[in-house]
Amino acid sequence: MDGNGRWAKRKHLPRALGHKKGVETVRNIVRVAGKMGVEAMTLYAFSSENWNRPEEEISDLMGLLRQYIQSDIDEFVENGVRLKVIGNYRVLDADIVAMIDNAIEKTSGNSKMTLAVALNYGSQDEMLRAVQHIAQGVKSGEIQPEAINLGHIAGALDTADMPPLDLLIRTSGELRLSNFLLWQAAYAELYFTETLWPDFDQVELERALESFGHRERRFGGR
Ligand code: IPE
Ligand code: MG
Repeated sequence: MDGNGRWAKRKHLPRALGHKKGVETVRNIVRVAGKMGVEAMTLYAFSSENWNRPEEEISDLMGLLRQYIQSDIDEFVENGVRLKVIGNYRVLDADIVAMIDNAIEKTSGNSKMTLAVALNYGSQDEMLRAVQHIAQGVKSGEIQPEAINLGHIAGALDTADMPPLDLLIRTSGELRLSNFLLWQAAYAELYFTETLWPDFDQVELERALESFGHRERRFGGR
């Protein structure tokens, strides 16, 4: 979800309003994706590198996160959305952590769509934590180094219980993955659009899915 700042700048609005509009887009896209039958969706909300932003902006983003969880949790329950967080979110403010844990617990029985929100997430950090986890298993004698397989790695990532990643969308014209789902994107189709995240809507999502539908996926075959 990229382009909130540029969206605000173009409209001569403060950055914070770009983020606010970005949250409205999240709300809309979660609804629309659910209706379209999307099984799982991961939103890159706050990266482990976003701590480098000015304190005020971080605090705006955290405030929006609080508001979003509070106001939309009932809708998740109603619409069968299971909330999940990837990334090391335990370092966020204690009230946010509690709110998240409560929302995860409240929606844990839902199965229509899994909504994973990436918070304090970085793909390299996720892989590092996975390696540490597996190394613990080696140390305790649970597993031999030569017995480690791809399944162990995938299973130690935050996305362990998610289906394979099919489509990765990046908005705002940047042509980078920016430390997002690097392992999981091995065979994902990539979709880049110039549209800024606050302007991303149902039509844009349909366009992305339409493009995905035309891709020939060979997974290394021929
Ligand atoms: C997305 O928009 C923000 C987050 C999800 C943290 P940006 O804040 O990166 O917007 P630009 O790139 O400055 O336009
Ligand atoms: Mg950006």
